[in-house]
Amino acid sequence: MRILGIHGSLRKGSYNQALLEAARGLLPDEVELEVAGLHGIPLYDADVDAQGQPEPVLALKEKVLRADALLIATPEYNASLPGVLKNGIDWLSRPPADIPRLFGDRTVGLIGASTGLRATQLAQAAWLPVFRVLGLVLWTGGQFNMASAHQKFDATGRLIDEDSRARLQKFLSGFVAFAARIPSRRT
Ligand SMILES: Cc1cc2nc3c(=O)[nH]c(=O)nc-3n(C[C@H](O)[C@H](O)[C@H](O)COP(=O)(O)O)c2cc1C
Repeated sequence: MRILGIHGSLRKGSYNQALLEAARGLLPDEVELEVAGLHGIPLYDADVDAQGQPEPVLALKEKVLRADALLIATPEYNASLPGVLKNGIDWLSRPPADIPRLFGDRTVGLIGASTGLRATQLAQAAWLPVFRVLGLVLWTGGQFNMASAHQKFDATGRLIDEDSRARLQKFLSGFVAFAARIPSRRT
């Protein structure tokens, strides 16, 4: 199984990127997790889109198409989803004719880390209508939120909080079982 992890933060020390890296280490050997960022993806501009989608957008689309499932690691900004990640998903959703092959029936898991105490719960809730309109199949059998992320990784980005590791492992095992049972429709 091939999972594409997308993190919605551009900063070098992103806890959401580190969360995906930690997830990679907790998955069984037969499950591959590729971690993708959104560097190089410009702000959505329909005029640019009309002249042809930028190369980083096309490259991300190819990664999505190769994946059996998506794992989104979302930061929380001002009690909602972050613009960087929404902008990336917005590019992927154009032209609308691409939505079924990119997102339709594709399984997705949602996780997030924040330095605040809300632990991305509001960001994750804000993604629900977006996933619904795109036709993604969200695994809802478990949740993974991380508060106070700055206390849970070491200086190299390794997840050192044992409770978080255990909760992430439990989330991943349920998500992988779901993705295996309900495979994304492959193009
Ligand atoms: C504009 C902005 C708004 C933020 N709003 C929230 C928030 O509403 N809730 C929260 O828990 N953290 C909030 N934070 C703190 C983020 O959780 C923190 O920056 C986190 O490290 C972002 O994820 P990253 O490490 O993957 O970049 C905010 C940060 C920024 C820059």
